[in-house]
Amino acid sequence: MKSLVLLLCFAQLWGCQSAPQGTGLGFRELACDDPEAEQVALLAVDYLNNHLLQGFKQVLNQIDKVKVWSRRPFGVVYEMEVDTLETTCHALDPTPLANGSVRQLTEHAVEGDCDFHILKQDGQFRVMHTQCHSTPDSAEDVRKLCPRCPLLTPFNDTNVVHTVNTALAAFNTQNNGTYFKLVEISRAQNVPLPVSTLVEFVIAATDCTAKEVTDPAKCNLLAEKQHGFCKANLMHNLGGEEVSVACKLFQTQPQPANANAVGPVPTANAALPADPPASVVVGPVVVPRGLSDHRTYHDLRHAFSPVASVESASGETLHSPKVGQPGAAGPVSPMCPGRIRHFKI
Ligand SMILES: *[C@@H]1O[C@H](CO)[C@@H](O)[C@H](O)[C@H]1NC(C)=O
Ligand SMILES: *[C@@H]1O[C@H](CO)[C@@H](O)[C@H](O)[C@H]1NC(C)=O
Ligand SMILES: *[C@@H]1O[C@H](CO)[C@@H](O)[C@H](O)[C@H]1NC(C)=O
Repeated sequence: MKSLVLLLCFAQLWGCQSAPQGTGLGFRELACDDPEAEQVALLAVDYLNNHLLQGFKQVLNQIDKVKVWSRRPFGVVYEMEVDTLETTCHALDPTPLANGSVRQLTEHAVEGDCDFHILKQDGQFRVMHTQCHSTPDSAEDVRKLCPRCPLLTPFNDTNVVHTVNTALAAFNTQNNGTYFKLVEISRAQNVPLPVSTLVEFVIAATDCTAKEVTDPAKCNLLAEKQHGFCKANLMHNLGGEEVSVACKLFQTQPQPANANAVGPVPTANAALPADPPASVVVGPVVVPRGLSDHRTYHDLRHAFSPVASVESASGETLHSPKVGQPGAAGPVSPMCPGRIRHFKI
């Protein structure tokens, strides 16, 4: 009887402290800088970028942790923790990320932190779970680096709202035809010297013509979505103010099924399959420009549409500890975290 009780205890311990302490129960350690880990991380960040609805595309900065679980009956699951950095390229912009487009520390950088579960089976990768959030560099750190660098400013700041409205109006005047309306303020900074406001925002084409618009609320976004990503600067001069605005227009199309197959994937058929069409959201929805939007950045927690987690909920249970508390038990690999590719925030 006593031994039965003991056994039960063991079973319970096993159940709640499920992170196995070795490789005996199905996971192996992998160095964070192992090419295998990097390949999977790059795929995961690509996947993230292809599912971003707001804010800026991300680049891989550092792999913090990686575990490789064997999955029954076949395949392996990579459980990774990855740091990313914001780029200057908007999520909806279809042009590939340019090298060196990482948002620099002097521009008030924003870091992303993601947990991924990626299944590899028959040479195919599939993202099963993604959870991310982002954090801007602290004001103190930016100030330490350069005392006059402009900090991220809340989207509802009076100068920011004024600059966006003025810039959009200027763009609509220059743009003979379609009326564009604001869908997102992506980034904003009040610059101390020369006194000015920098903004980056997203617009979308509507069914109104720019000349006739009276109530923008009555203008509908076109079905064939055309977006623009704009950068504007409003200078406060002695005589008044001066706005300059430049927009890059692009057609926003749904991601083709195998868009993720590009990149550093040596396996010919390695592709992240598309998600069920029903759950794919293309482009941002028009957000009401409330005075309450005091955010200063787009948190990956909300900017990302985590459609893929549907899959792990549908019975494909992962032979791994609970999501969220991985390394609670067990030693962390000495080969982690990996190298920093850009800079540490
Ligand atoms: C990208 O930039 C890095 C660092 O400056 C450089 O080592 C690498 O060769 C560049 N890659 C391309 C494709 O230009
Ligand atoms: C602007 O609109 C007017 C009136 O519709 C048209 O005559 C003119 O050709 C347009 N100009 C450009 C540059 O599209
Ligand atoms: C911005 O939003 C915050 C939070 O709702 C509010 O307290 C603040 O007054 C707003 N700022 C402006 C300038 O409207």
